[in-house]
Amino acid sequence: MPDITFMPDRQTVRVRPGTTLLDAGRRANAGIRTRCDGKAACLMCKVIVEDDTGLAPMNRNEQLKLGSLSEMGYRLACQTRAFGNVTVTVPEDPLKAAVRALLAKQQEEDGI
Ligand code: FES
Repeated sequence: MPDITFMPDRQTVRVRPGTTLLDAGRRANAGIRTRCDGKAACLMCKVIVEDDTGLAPMNRNEQLKLGSLSEMGYRLACQTRAFGNVTVTVPEDPLKAAVRALLAKQQEEDGI
């Protein structure tokens, strides 16, 4: 039974072999975004995996969708099945990142 750890929150869930990272992420409440509900259409479920030895190899469809991101450790959580322990980084939501950057800029301008 693979253990999947989601960063940055360090949430770990034990799943059945073959479970997708999207399903594991839902169980861990890891905040993986999706609009197509796992149909490899929205590309919102991108996650980063540094060591993919616990994962099934990337299929052709996933490789085509990710393009050069596949060489940078990105995987589509909905298409990636785990068969061993793995650590997954969930990128920050772009909207939250933009708000955080704006707040930091405002605090800097206000001298806080
Ligand atoms: S959930 Fe839409 S591409 Fe993975």
